[in-house]
Amino acid sequence: MRALVTGGAGFIGSNLVDALVDAGHTVTVVDNLSSGKEANLEQALRQGVTFHQADVAELGPLREIFEQARPELVFHLAAQIDVRKSVSDPVFDARVNVGGTAAVLEASRSVQARRVLFSSTGGAMYGDAKVIPTPEDASIEPMAPYGTSKYAAETYLGLYERLYGMSTIALRFGNVFGPRQDPHGEAGVIAIYCGARKEGRRGIVFGDGRQTRDYTYVGDIVSAALAAADHDATGAFNVGTGVETTVLEIAEKLGVETDFQPARTGEAQRSCLDVTKAAEVLGWRSKVEVEEGLERTLEWALAE
Ligand SMILES: NC(=O)c1ccc[n+]([C@@H]2O[C@H](COP(=O)([O-])OP(=O)(O)OC[C@H]3O[C@@H](n4cnc5c(N)ncnc54)[C@H](O)[C@@H]3O)[C@@H](O)[C@H]2O)c1
Repeated sequence: MRALVTGGAGFIGSNLVDALVDAGHTVTVVDNLSSGKEANLEQALRQGVTFHQADVAELGPLREIFEQARPELVFHLAAQIDVRKSVSDPVFDARVNVGGTAAVLEASRSVQARRVLFSSTGGAMYGDAKVIPTPEDASIEPMAPYGTSKYAAETYLGLYERLYGMSTIALRFGNVFGPRQDPHGEAGVIAIYCGARKEGRRGIVFGDGRQTRDYTYVGDIVSAALAAADHDATGAFNVGTGVETTVLEIAEKLGVETDFQPARTGEAQRSCLDVTKAAEVLGWRSKVEVEEGLERTLEWALAE
């Protein structure tokens, strides 16, 4: 099929692009390279993937790209993903995450794309959840604009289904980790600790290190996206492992010595997704255990 991946030069997007190429799809990537890198697409470009450097929040140019590519499947991953930046600049966050999603839906509608898949977030949306593991029908209580903008974007998917009969699905990811995740800035703790281990530095633990997350290997995220593309289910689906792991356990498994700093405000103590719905409806389950995923990621980071 013809597939278009926004944010395809990023961490998750480029892993998805490689899998789509391997599965024989014709792939077009749209990315403004604000955090993604063309180097992530090196192999994919050699295999015939088309790359457009463009901003998803600008409908005019985006529509032209869609008209050229005529995608049947649209994977919308381009986003402002920095939670702290969303707090300091909520207007920019909304422009990219809400405006960008509205533009992607409009462009998809104009070429009658068969299905739009949106990369949403579990942890940032449920906040300090009362039920752990947290199911999809838990109350939405973000602790930063990033979670709010992702939720607003999800409501546009439902709207486009009602208004235009468009087939859409929102995949609410856990804390994704794996090869190509950027270790700099506000990245995930696993990428940061892999970077620290490589450079022989100590890692920083904010708070007591007993906070938990649902760390999900990127290969499992990719297989969930492919399963969701093959299905016609709509609505929101958690995509994680259903297993809680503490920051201290991650540091220990990666062999990183740690220093402690005060806890950061606005961060949930526990986060873990109930993944029953994805298993029952999409027939998808994560396969890579955290330990194995950490080994693969560290191996990649050390070889980089
Ligand atoms: N990494 C995680 O743990 C995680 C968890 C939940 C959800 N997600 C979602 O998954 C998606 C991919 O995240 P990632 O971790 O690969 O991050 P990433 O920063 O590596 O990927 C995002 C990509 O989008 C591109 N982009 C940003 N703004 C753009 C714009 N206006 N126009 C075009 N391209 C733009 C960036 O250049 C980058 O390549 C995002 O939607 C993110 O919200 C990620």
